Amino acid sequence: MATTVWLGLGSNLGDRRQHLTRALAALAQLPGIEVLRASRFHESVLHGDGPAQGPFLNGIAELRTSLPLPALLAVCKELERAAGRVLPAPTNHPRPLDLDLLFAGDQRCDTAELVLPHPRWHLRPFVVEPLRELGLDVALLPRTLRPSVIATSGELVQRCTDWLAGGCTIGLVPTMGSLHAGHGSLLRTAHAANHRVVATVFVNPLQFGPNEDFAAYPRSLAADVALCGEAGADAVFAPSVEAMYGAAFCSHVAVGAAAEGMEGALRPQHFAGVATVVARLFALARPSHAYFGEKDAQQLAVIRRMAKDLGFPVTIVPCAIVREADGLAMSSRNVYLGRDDRAASTVLVQALRASLRAFRAGERDREALLRVAHKFLAREPRAALDYLELRSDPELLPLPAGPVTGGRLLVAARFAGGARPVRLLDNLSLTASHTEHP
Ligand code: PAJ
Repeated sequence: MATTVWLGLGSNLGDRRQHLTRALAALAQLPGIEVLRASRFHESVLHGDGPAQGPFLNGIAELRTSLPLPALLAVCKELERAAGRVLPAPTNHPRPLDLDLLFAGDQRCDTAELVLPHPRWHLRPFVVEPLRELGLDVALLPRTLRPSVIATSGELVQRCTDWLAGGCTIGLVPTMGSLHAGHGSLLRTAHAANHRVVATVFVNPLQFGPNEDFAAYPRSLAADVALCGEAGADAVFAPSVEAMYGAAFCSHVAVGAAAEGMEGALRPQHFAGVATVVARLFALARPSHAYFGEKDAQQLAVIRRMAKDLGFPVTIVPCAIVREADGLAMSSRNVYLGRDDRAASTVLVQALRASLRAFRAGERDREALLRVAHKFLAREPRAALDYLELRSDPELLPLPAGPVTGGRLLVAARFAGGARPVRLLDNLSLTASHTEHP
């Protein structure tokens, strides 16, 4: 049975017009393909980030084909190669010919090689304009709605099973929502390295103590889904507590030495709750990579240990701390800081940076390095210090005695002057190199 297929064509290397017209002529020659009509060619600049390069010439064509979609895709790749494109090609690099399948009737397809409808066609003026030019009502054309919001564990398993069967790799970004640019950087890193990205938004009751802020934790699902979409997530898993943990749920992950001291000492069940939910997410989504922020360095150490100990076949990817312009580490709880506490909160990063400067100036005595940071913290009465520690990096175990050769400085403090008390965490790696920008 013949299908109507819309094809996007682009070129920004060599004789652009010739590449496009030759591709259309070659398609028309092939058995099983009829080129019904094509738009004019339009000039456009690169859409998205990439190296400096010349403008594109773009157009679209309507085909009628009896070929199955994988065969049509193979034909397109072959034409790209014949025009001089080296495949697989890095994203957003200049290319003599780019052929994108946009729609194929009302067929949907979601494999590593092909997603139909094309997930971003409606964001690309160089596709939308030619479609209009050919008289199509753009509002009526099919769209892959990304990200899709998944509410049950069963649906998540099904979706990931389909992707894995289609040869896709899955990147997982677990969060508790109320997303900010820190979460966004995890999602973008995951998007760049995986075929599909699952973000999870779930305020996990297991990791909150009885007097902690589970009920008051900020929640904003609609804004979170929008941010996930912009940052490249394909699905947002946002279950209710009941959907996440069935009524009979009673199994938990116990965590050992990695959870000792610091947050583990102040929040006794916290890391067991984190490890339990993350282990469950690993089991449901089966990611090849999972992304965690260095902002919560002890959590990262606990999860690394747990994934190794329980044998999850996943690579844990640490992501650098994203900070506000004045240095405060971004956190969902920052919204609860009062104005004065917000101004005072930068003392944490300043204290850590002072210690780092001392380390880089040659200080190797553990107590002296801690003293530098303590002196800073003592000057800010609004900050009630919970701990300041120097641990090994990345395991965060106590450092051996003797001169400090490196490690991670970790701090936590309470600020009680706002709408509700807020605990802030921060940390910094002690490295001799000046090339790292903490
Ligand atoms: P949440 O606090 O929402 O954080 C989700 C992820 O974002 C964590 O890996 C965290 O370290 C990272 N993150 C937060 N702020 C960041 C920043 N400023 N820069 C870089 N990364 C940042 O951590 C949790 O949720 C939960 O404990 C969870 C792992 C989801 C388990 O429930």
